[in-house]
Amino acid sequence: MTKVNMKVNISGVELKNPVMTASGTFGSGIEYGEFVDLNRLGAVVVKGIANTSWKGNASPRVAETFGGMLNSVGLQNPGVDEFIQKDIPFLRKYDTKIIVNIAGKTVEEYCEVVKKLATADIDLLELNISCPNVKEGGVSFGTDAKMVEYVTKQVKRVSKQPLIVKLTPNVTDIVEIAKGAEAGGADGLSLINTLLGMAIDIHKRKPVLANVVGGLSGPAIKPVAIRMVYQVAKAVGLPIIGMGGIMTGEDAIEFIQAGATGVAVGTANFINPTATMDVLEGIGKYMNQYGVEKISDIRGIIA
Ligand code: FUM
Repeated sequence: MTKVNMKVNISGVELKNPVMTASGTFGSGIEYGEFVDLNRLGAVVVKGIANTSWKGNASPRVAETFGGMLNSVGLQNPGVDEFIQKDIPFLRKYDTKIIVNIAGKTVEEYCEVVKKLATADIDLLELNISCPNVKEGGVSFGTDAKMVEYVTKQVKRVSKQPLIVKLTPNVTDIVEIAKGAEAGGADGLSLINTLLGMAIDIHKRKPVLANVVGGLSGPAIKPVAIRMVYQVAKAVGLPIIGMGGIMTGEDAIEFIQAGATGVAVGTANFINPTATMDVLEGIGKYMNQYGVEKISDIRGIIA
C-alpha cells in the first residue's frame, strides 16, 4: 500500500489521522489498551467527566437492538479530580490526542470541570449538551438554539483548550442548533449523539431499560447522522467530528465526503474491540484504491 496523508486539523489541533473513539464507548482507553495500539489513533475521546463522581442510572442500562443498541448509562464517571490524577497520565504515555467530554447538570458545573482542566495536559474539550439519559444537563441544554449559544458562550469563556460542542439529533432543525453553537463561540462540532429510543420486553410486559428510554446508536442511525453532518457542513464553517454507526472504513469515508473532518467510532467497539484499527485500515485502503493522496481532498465533496 502507498503511504497516504491522513493528517487532519481539528480546531487548531493536528491529528495524525481522523479516527477517534466516540465518548462513552472506550472509557479512557485503559480497558482497550491490550487490543488497540492507542498510538495509532488520531484521538481518544473519553467518557463524559463531571465535577464529582456520578453513579449513573440503574440497570439494565444497555440493550441490543436491530442494527444497534440502546444505552441509558447516565454518564457514570469518576469525577474530574480522579480523571486528572489517573486517566490523563495513562493516556499521555501514548502518541495520540486527548479529547475530554464534559458533563454537567448546570452551566456552573460544566464551567467547574473546564476550569479544573485548564492546566491539564489535554488537547480539546467536547461539551456534552446532548446526552438523553440524565434528568438535568445533557440534552436539556441541546435542543434550543438560544440555549446552546448561551451555554457554549459561558463554557468558552473559561476554557483554555479549543471547545467542540456535541450535538443531539433529537431536534427538528440540526442546522439551527449548530448555528447556535457557532454563535456561542464553539471551535468545532461533533454530531450526532444518540437518538432517543425505547424497547419493550413483551414477555415481562416491561421496558427493557430500567430508565424506560435510552439513546439508540449503531448502524441503524447512520443515514440520519450522514444527513445531519451533510446539512451542518454546508451551513456552518466549523470542523466537524462525524459519528453514528461507523463500523468500517467505507462508513468513515461516507462521513468525510459528507463534510466531516474527524470520524468517531462508537458502538462498533462493543462488538469488535479493534474496530478503530479496522476503520483506519479501511480508510487507507480506500485512499489507495482511488489514488487519494490527502484525506482533505475528499472532504465535503458531495454537492
Ligand atoms: O447515558 C450516557 O452516559 C450517555 C451519554 C451520552 O450519550 O452522551
